[in-house]
Amino acid sequence: MEKTTDVLIIGSGIAGLYTALKVSKFANVILVTKKEKTESGTNYAQGGIASVLDGTDSFENHINDTLVAGAALCDRERVEILVKEGPEHIRELMEIGTRFTMSGNEFDLAREGGHSHARIVHAQDLTGREVERALVEYVSSVPNITILENHLAIDLLTEHNIKKLKNSPIDSRHCWGAYILDIENEKVIKIKACATVLASGGIGQVYLHTTNPAIATGDGFAMAYRAGARLSNMEFIQFHPTSLYSTGTSSTREQAFLISEAVRGFGGILRTKSGDRFMGKYDSRLELAPRDIVARAIDSELKKEGEDFVYLDITRKPASEIKVHFPNIYEKCLSIGIDITKDFIPVVPAAHYACGGVIVDSFGSTSLQFLYAAGEVSMTGVHGANRLASNSLLEALVYSGRASAAIKKQLETKSTVLPQIPDWDEAGVLTPDEMVVISHSEKEVKQLMSDYVGIVRSDLRLERAQRRINTLFEEVEEFYKKNKVFSSLIELRNLVTCAYLIVKCALLRKESRGLHFSLDYPASSQDVPSDTVIRNKYQKS
Ligand code: FAD
Ligand code: SIN
Repeated sequence: MEKTTDVLIIGSGIAGLYTALKVSKFANVILVTKKEKTESGTNYAQGGIASVLDGTDSFENHINDTLVAGAALCDRERVEILVKEGPEHIRELMEIGTRFTMSGNEFDLAREGGHSHARIVHAQDLTGREVERALVEYVSSVPNITILENHLAIDLLTEHNIKKLKNSPIDSRHCWGAYILDIENEKVIKIKACATVLASGGIGQVYLHTTNPAIATGDGFAMAYRAGARLSNMEFIQFHPTSLYSTGTSSTREQAFLISEAVRGFGGILRTKSGDRFMGKYDSRLELAPRDIVARAIDSELKKEGEDFVYLDITRKPASEIKVHFPNIYEKCLSIGIDITKDFIPVVPAAHYACGGVIVDSFGSTSLQFLYAAGEVSMTGVHGANRLASNSLLEALVYSGRASAAIKKQLETKSTVLPQIPDWDEAGVLTPDEMVVISHSEKEVKQLMSDYVGIVRSDLRLERAQRRINTLFEEVEEFYKKNKVFSSLIELRNLVTCAYLIVKCALLRKESRGLHFSLDYPASSQDVPSDTVIRNKYQKS
């Protein structure tokens, strides 16, 4: 089956929905999302959106904080765009009905690690849920946006799908849509589009312990890589310092509960299991140092003490204030017997955010013509080697807005003739009877990444991971070619590809910078810092 549209958007988090909102003003949109429409990383965002919204703060302050957190690797021009265009998008969210926490007529601005001012707009500690609610409500009411739930994008349509164009040079490739698995009907359809937007979110599920939901299997990174787009800085995986410690479940796709950085911004103190405050040994900004520093400090304390968790202590703040600011965290902890107004919270770092991704220009265009990327899957250059807290939702808004402007220009100035592309070929493929292969391989890739490609790395560990991942990659490709496609197989293939990309970029970086810390190169290089760039030379599909 084939559908055609002006713009195909893959993903229904903040980036996909906000792009749909903007693009629907001048074009028809099909938005596909692999689960129900609210399920996304966005839906779990707690702390909020960083933006300069009060007279005591300034754009320059926010720009500087972002550059400092990014360890000299941010693109200053892109950061300026991010910061200066932020406030107008926050107002636009409010216009469509997003309700942020206010203090009278002013925003109740919170503070988080790495920020010199309180500048986080939030909706209590459930900001993502509120933003997602407002966007889903708005977008669902727009007639020229069709949302297809339970539709999973498998691969992008490019020249490599067309026999006579298969060998066309990678630098002149186009994207004309995607093959999509209709999960309920177990059918692969083809959606052709003049412009395609990857807004497929993060990658956290490549690790055992992550704050990311089950959907975060890095599909967009892997699809873009297979299609030949350029990716960058995949080694910079941000570990959030404070996820709630749990003894774990047996599920393959665990999601760790986040204890927002706003808790530290509110006065939370990190303590060892014996009760000692330790951040003073690591950074003069103490608990409010940028995330890479705090996560590494916790990792080091855990290794030194041989413990499984440290504590976050907010008990010195009035109980009534804690409950007002953090109702979600309070309730969640209480449900497992921890009263955060009286008890310390056991926490550990968890994989949280991919700072690298599919390289885009300042208007969201990737290196493939007619393919755009926005949100966590994209690499706009604003995060450098370590994202500043609450800059992700902001980036998704600002750069989705800009991608929409570029799509408008494309549709107005370039007439796109969509070529004939063959239907998905299912001839001869088997129905798999060995599901254990999938779950076992997924656990294996997570274990490898957690053991060898975590907060502290070395060449030896990375090379070990690389060898094993290469084998896993081949095993999964073989399985993929023989069997009928289904969600967990497609996602496993993407997870293994993402693991490969992270390790490959990590091996390219011969220094420690931001989130990438190597025992073999413990200092930052004295050379002008540069991005790692990776691209698939051999088209696989
Ligand atoms: P997502 O919101 O993750 O949406 C991706 C969408 O793509 C989903 O709908 C998914 O189902 C869909 N999808 C994926 N693959 C496919 C496919 N193959 N086919 C079809 N659909 C697909 N950032 C901040 O700035 N502030 C915060 O306070 C904050 N708190 C956070 C708390 C948590 C627990 C987490 C996990 C992240 C937090 N972040 C925060 C980071 C931020 O939420 C994410 O980076 C951001 O929401 C990503 O938005 P997105 O639109 O790019 O992706
Ligand atoms: C948090 O609330 O700590 C998450 C903020 C972020 O990821 O930027």
